[in-house]
Amino acid sequence: MNLALFSLLLLTLQSAKGSDQEAGSYRTLQQNVLVVTPKVDSSAVQVPLQCGESYGDRKIVWRSKNGVVGEGNRINVTVEEMFGGNYSCHDDTGYLNHTLVLVQGSKNAILENSDSTDPIQCLSNNYSGHFQCSWKWSHGRKGDVLLVTVTRSSVEINCTVDPSGQSIACRDHTHCPYVEEVERITLTLHVKRGYRVDIYKKYFYISEIGKPDGISITKVGNTYKWEYPETWSVPHSYFPLTFEVKMIHLKHNCDCKSKVCISKNIQTTDRHWPVREKFLFCIRAQDALCNSSWSDWSQAEPYKKKSHCDRRSYNSFVCNTKSCCPVGHELCFSAESYNA
Ligand SMILES: *[C@@H]1O[C@H](CO)[C@@H](O)[C@H](O)[C@H]1NC(C)=O
Ligand SMILES: *[C@@H]1O[C@H](CO)[C@@H](O)[C@H](O)[C@H]1NC(C)=O
Ligand SMILES: *[C@@H]1O[C@H](CO)[C@@H](O)[C@H](O)[C@H]1NC(C)=O
Ligand SMILES: *[C@@H]1O[C@H](CO)[C@@H](O)[C@H](O)[C@H]1NC(C)=O
Ligand SMILES: *[C@@H]1O[C@H](CO)[C@@H](O)[C@H](O)[C@H]1NC(C)=O
Ligand SMILES: *[C@@H]1O[C@H](CO)[C@@H](O)[C@H](O)[C@H]1NC(C)=O
Repeated sequence: MNLALFSLLLLTLQSAKGSDQEAGSYRTLQQNVLVVTPKVDSSAVQVPLQCGESYGDRKIVWRSKNGVVGEGNRINVTVEEMFGGNYSCHDDTGYLNHTLVLVQGSKNAILENSDSTDPIQCLSNNYSGHFQCSWKWSHGRKGDVLLVTVTRSSVEINCTVDPSGQSIACRDHTHCPYVEEVERITLTLHVKRGYRVDIYKKYFYISEIGKPDGISITKVGNTYKWEYPETWSVPHSYFPLTFEVKMIHLKHNCDCKSKVCISKNIQTTDRHWPVREKFLFCIRAQDALCNSSWSDWSQAEPYKKKSHCDRRSYNSFVCNTKSCCPVGHELCFSAESYNA
């Protein structure tokens, strides 16, 4: 969507706001799409529909999936009990136009939502202005993205919606990585399921959603060495990362939090670490200046091991304790004859 289209949209949003004060309100979201917001979920709202100015006094019939609902170019339909509909108008020659009437509920329910996590997750792997946001449909029931608008200081940010309808990739062209962000990015997501529409909003700075990519580790003699992720912003002196190093007994994996695992957390800015036999080397990174997300763990092992399992199929995790096995890899636990 370009800027002109976006301002047009804003204009229609403002000018087409109608209301039925007692029961609720309605507004045009897009051409042929009307959103009704009842005061309470059970109130009935009167909504006027028009087939089209150009059709004048032609003999027009309106239909929904319940059959004929009215006659004439303009009709009023009653939207009750969260039931929207797709109303089409026809004359003797057939279909002329339609209006999709959607109802906004008092509580959002189309996206998976838990108390502890935001329904929309946004991440950026550097300060270039690129970022991604994703969400999941609740109860495994697919919805549809109606409209996504992402802006900062009223300027639209260019985003593309993934064909799955569960993520967007955006680029803020105006973002300058070397200057502190003044205003937050505003994300507004309209999703629909059936004739119901939910509106989700999220506000964030790029600096708040940082998550560095995984780190690549090299083993040089008796030392592990690593570099900044290739995708992280440069210069590194201006965009420093903090690293967390963990040595875990080889029988476990980097994510293991159970107390049977031996672990040691060290904050370090030096990018090398001694190899220790029988221990897995785990490392992750975080923006040193912002309290944003840690990268996923990267790991290296002191030596190659024999294994009955195809280790690539379970991320080279070797587990001897079921509690530390990644979910779904418990089978490897019994198949593995690990020789440490
Ligand atoms: C069809 O309906 C839409 C929404 O009400 C309206 O904007 C449009 O002008 C109509 N089309 C015609 C050809 O009248
Ligand atoms: C629709 O309702 C409005 C007020 O709620 C009324 O002014 C208008 O005449 C009605 N239109 C039709 C076609 O009944
Ligand atoms: C609504 O009806 C029109 C006309 O039949 C159709 O083109 C459109 O795809 C329908 N929209 C939905 C969401 O059902
Ligand atoms: C927005 O993204 C699309 C697809 O990546 C691209 O073709 C278009 O030029 C971009 N528009 C702007 C203003 O950057
Ligand atoms: C920043 O990340 C994006 C992908 O999110 C990538 O396309 C871009 O090349 C990265 N920038 C740098 C400097 O690597
Ligand atoms: C960083 O974020 C974590 C989790 O969001 C929080 O528990 C912690 O208190 C924060 N630390 C600082 C210094 O803000």
